[in-house]
Amino acid sequence: MSTHIGAQPGQVAPVVLMPGDPLRARWIAETFLEDAQCYTEVRGMLGYTGTWQGQRVSVQGSGMGQPSLAIYVTELFRDYGVETVIRVGSCGALTERVAMRDVVIASGACTDSSMNRIAFHGLDYAPVADFGLLRGAVERAEALDSAHHVGLILSSDSFYPARPELVSGMVEYGVLAVEMEASALYTLAAKHGRRALAVCTVSDHIVTGEETTAREREKTFGTMVEIALGAAFS
Ligand code: ADE
Repeated sequence: MSTHIGAQPGQVAPVVLMPGDPLRARWIAETFLEDAQCYTEVRGMLGYTGTWQGQRVSVQGSGMGQPSLAIYVTELFRDYGVETVIRVGSCGALTERVAMRDVVIASGACTDSSMNRIAFHGLDYAPVADFGLLRGAVERAEALDSAHHVGLILSSDSFYPARPELVSGMVEYGVLAVEMEASALYTLAAKHGRRALAVCTVSDHIVTGEETTAREREKTFGTMVEIALGAAFS
């Protein structure tokens, strides 16, 4: 097993869906996978492997924020040979062009985190999605007739930012929504030569102040998982 994932080599599938919430990982495994087995409970960050349409798929919680996600993604790539990680999470809409419950497929992820600035000695790196996954996700969203947007998101280190106007100001540069993980995921996938994508459902609206109920989140989460699975095997 690796430091934070209690699985033996071979127990994790080459394709991993990654929600932030470990209980979401369990819900996805129980709802979408056949013969799902839990392979890790370390720190309560649940991971499962099963099959979807005959293909092996794992679902691994990441926790919230880029430092937490980076721990799990690094170990998945380095210690378990994972090829594809698709984040399935929630985001806050930054523009009225994006409505509550819409799906945002992130072509690239800006960040206010210092993780990349440290890694690149102050140079700015542009973390982007794998194009094949991005195309597959868009095709699947169209087939499902799901309201979706493709564009930039902001991966912030703060759910409660000290300067909200800085986050909102990014709309002028085409940023659609804010979440807390995708930038580190895209950067690590590039470093390890693997594939990554983030698909996020709008759970709250920064402009209108709307929020979804837990029940609404569950329903829209299902559509997002179908988009992610379609992308992974497109
Ligand atoms: N995830 C969902 N909503 C968010 C928000 N408003 N800010 C950061 N991450 C989020």
